[in-house]
Amino acid sequence: MTVVVLGSINLDLVIEVPHLPAKGETVIGDRFFSAAGGKAANQAVAIAKLGTTVSLVGQVGDDSFGKTLVEGLQTAGVNTNGIIVNPHTYSGIASIVVDRQGANTISCAGGANNLVREPEIEQFKILLPKAKIAMLELGIPIATVLNAAREAKAHDCLLILDPAPVNSNLPEELYSLIDIITPNEIEASQLVGFTVDGVTTARQAASVLHQMGVKNVIITLGSQGSIYSNEAENFWIKPIAVPVVDTVAAGDAFNGALAVALASGKSIKEAVQWATVGGALAVTKNGAQSSLPNRDSFQQLLKRQVLLD
Ligand code: RIB
Repeated sequence: MTVVVLGSINLDLVIEVPHLPAKGETVIGDRFFSAAGGKAANQAVAIAKLGTTVSLVGQVGDDSFGKTLVEGLQTAGVNTNGIIVNPHTYSGIASIVVDRQGANTISCAGGANNLVREPEIEQFKILLPKAKIAMLELGIPIATVLNAAREAKAHDCLLILDPAPVNSNLPEELYSLIDIITPNEIEASQLVGFTVDGVTTARQAASVLHQMGVKNVIITLGSQGSIYSNEAENFWIKPIAVPVVDTVAAGDAFNGALAVALASGKSIKEAVQWATVGGALAVTKNGAQSSLPNRDSFQQLLKRQVLLD
């Protein structure tokens, strides 16, 4: 097993709207659909679709949503042995609105995700000895994330944290355990306490995150590309211009492709380029897992980008 992901699994209920509602406003939508989602589940599917072996650890309720979500993960090629089915709660739900520019807002009812604790850590520990990379996100309790991070480092895995949904009160110890953190500009702003809105402020945020103990920082900046920074080097990766349909799961596709590249021995620069290709392809389609690229479409865009560089 090359990658182990621990975190949230959701059913996404998506309404496409002409514009995102303001506080107190009701907006009539154009279309509704439901789709498999959850940040950790999306990342695991992104990895599996690109051909790398991956296990997902998490929890669903003993309901029809949970059953459908786990079956979908299996069909995508994700090892789901580490997913616990809890008969006493409901599967995670995300209520998502997406506007005509592809921008979104997301609210989650955590359900089973809020109960991810020791039993899931035990599943994670079973999988870690065979994993090169461990991936975490924040859709589950922070105490579980911290325990999992300790375990991942005790097993010498490369640890990637996607700090989403963002929490600006992360335990100090967590920062020093993370090998690579991958916030977007909103998440980076909340983590460091000032606005990150471009390359200059992203580099300043990366310095703060280094001071907090994170070794490698990648900040995604949407249409402005992304920056990478560690103590020895930093670089900017340009964005890829694509028609934007729906940005849900773009970050998950980014993280998944990053892990696939690193697992196959690519340099960090190549890995951020791969991640950019993954993220770009995900925004061209609707939904979360349904928007994640397969190996063929990924390779095509990657080749095109390499030729352009
Ligand atoms: O990153 C996108 C995901 O965030 C959605 O699939 C939704 O479930 C929320 O967790």
